[in-house]
Amino acid sequence: MTVSLEQLRRCHIAVDLGAARTRVFVKGQGVVVDEPSVAAVNTRTGGLIAVGAFAQQMTGRTPEYIRVVRPVSGGTVVDVDMAQRMLRHLLGDKLRRALRRKPRLRAAACTPHESDPLARRATVETLVGLGARRVELVDTLIAAAVGCGLPVERPEATMIMACGAATTQIAVLSLGAIVTAQRLPVGGDAIDHAIVSHLRHRHDLLLPAQSVRPLQLAVDAADPRTGTTEIHGRDAATGLARSVTVDTAALREAISAPFTTILDGIGRVLRTCPPDLVADLAEGGLTAVGGSALLPGLDRMLKEATGMPIRIAENPGMCAVQGLGAMLEGRVGPMTLSPLPAR
Ligand SMILES: Nc1ncnc2c1ncn2[C@@H]1O[C@H](COP(=O)(O)OP(=O)(O)OP(=O)(O)O)[C@@H](O)[C@H]1O
Ligand SMILES: [Mg+2]
Repeated sequence: MTVSLEQLRRCHIAVDLGAARTRVFVKGQGVVVDEPSVAAVNTRTGGLIAVGAFAQQMTGRTPEYIRVVRPVSGGTVVDVDMAQRMLRHLLGDKLRRALRRKPRLRAAACTPHESDPLARRATVETLVGLGARRVELVDTLIAAAVGCGLPVERPEATMIMACGAATTQIAVLSLGAIVTAQRLPVGGDAIDHAIVSHLRHRHDLLLPAQSVRPLQLAVDAADPRTGTTEIHGRDAATGLARSVTVDTAALREAISAPFTTILDGIGRVLRTCPPDLVADLAEGGLTAVGGSALLPGLDRMLKEATGMPIRIAENPGMCAVQGLGAMLEGRVGPMTLSPLPAR
């Protein structure tokens, strides 16, 4: 971690701008925003119509003059201006006024592991536009590891996997730093997409977004060989409502590609990790954070594939912002070692 805990302790606000959700922690108040990273814009006037959960509800249901946009994509801010406007609305007038009263507002934000300078700059610019005089960036993996209570500062290995909407990041940490890590461009969205396109291709069925989650549950619960499940959707050709019986084994096969990418990533992290640390991991196992860690059956699948103990963090989506918050409030021990006095 390049930024010191001392600098983080001077920050007033911590922000996690995710591809799916935006979360904001205010020192002394806790998490004040946890909303979808979505904004709805009137294309005629350019004005913002809605942000957060309400804007997300509009997705796919808007008349032609309303456009629903996502200013964060793949874990990085792709539209700085829109991200600023969205955050301003999510924070609300009262909170914004309170923050404006701070003459030297400092903000902390988490950024994906090994994000490029442009992506980091976009995050910094977004927060500067909100009035921050200084912005400290923290690796998401470290923030999330702190947030889920892993003993990151100890000289022993801890393994974390952050499964977001757009990316999955895996790391082994020791002594407050990342020893080895991988960032993969697959997340919950890739798995949802695999399910939707399987139904489109195999059954000519357009699946409504709200049916993806029940289908994931059904696939996890069904017998691996014989199970089937019924699902309602819209016929791709006629446009009429139709229900089909889906073979869960075929569906499981369809979503195996993103899972394989994740398992390959775990393998690469373990292969590049020093042997002493791998020995620690056999006991400590892997902790999964991020919203997609709630994917039904993920823990069982990981356990079968790796043989390691798997723990899904409590409230996994909130770990990164909670970790940043803990650093802001000085609730974590020093992570970098200070030099021994000369003798
Ligand atoms: N109960 C659940 N079951 C399955 N998936 C879930 C569940 N809850 C949330 N998700 C998935 O988690 C993802 C959102 O996770 P999270 O909030 O960590 O993303 P993010 O931080 O915005 O994304 P990123 O870190 O990639 O920028 C979405 O893809 C969503 O579909
Ligand atoms: Mg995230």
